[in-house]
Amino acid sequence: MAIVIKSQREIELMREAGRILALTHEELRKAVKPGISTYEIDKIGEEVIRSYGCIPSFLNYNGYPASVCVSVNEEVVHGIPSKKRILQDGDIVSLDCGVIYKGYHSDSARTYGVGEISEKASDLIKVTKESFFEALKVCKAGNHINDISKAVFDYITARGYSAVRDLVGHGVGANLHEAPEVPNFTRLKKGPKLKPGMTLAIEPMINIGTYEVLWLDDDWTVVTADGELSAHYENTVLITEGEPEILSRAQGIEL
Ligand code: MF3
Ligand code: CO
Repeated sequence: MAIVIKSQREIELMREAGRILALTHEELRKAVKPGISTYEIDKIGEEVIRSYGCIPSFLNYNGYPASVCVSVNEEVVHGIPSKKRILQDGDIVSLDCGVIYKGYHSDSARTYGVGEISEKASDLIKVTKESFFEALKVCKAGNHINDISKAVFDYITARGYSAVRDLVGHGVGANLHEAPEVPNFTRLKKGPKLKPGMTLAIEPMINIGTYEVLWLDDDWTVVTADGELSAHYENTVLITEGEPEILSRAQGIEL
């Protein structure tokens, strides 16, 4: 599949999708507390998205049954919200969410601590987020996809972590998943050249132990093979002639 270069109009729509997504994440962030169920988190996300007249893009995507992927501790991504799963003090939780505004997608994820978390857990969350910003530094026209992959990979590897290989970032736009793939590990192949108007979901999925993952019986929930913690951080990014622009952001709201 060819990489779609977005027009000014499409970029405008993705900016608005991203703004609404950032506002949604802000409400989710406030809701994360010991005692809340992952089901309730999903419902808050869906409500906020619909309150802006947007569509939750994950709901029914390939049969996924919710609007927010809620992944706790050793769950890497695609955790299915449940009334029975109650967040506990000391957990970490990754919230992955997507919205469609007038036909255009934005996709982003955050990982939070629940109550008081260990230093080991907070370091993982911090390094995962930082690795995204390392990648952002090389999001320049003329560089290649592998520059992004290598930036994430080198940053997390130097700090003793591993990057999930079975799942990758992706182009995003009129579809949730578009070309190109954006891996978080490198085998040195340059990959496609970055061009202005490309929009990428860059999403480090970083583990404390092995990079290997497994799928649970629900066929969605991805977990670390060794049961160690995993964190996820994602934004939708526009490549420009100059500095990259994070589209999944809103004024006054922390990234
Ligand atoms: N953010 C995820 C991704 O980038 C999307 C979740 S997949 C879904 O692939 F099926 F749950 F929607
Ligand atoms: Co994504």
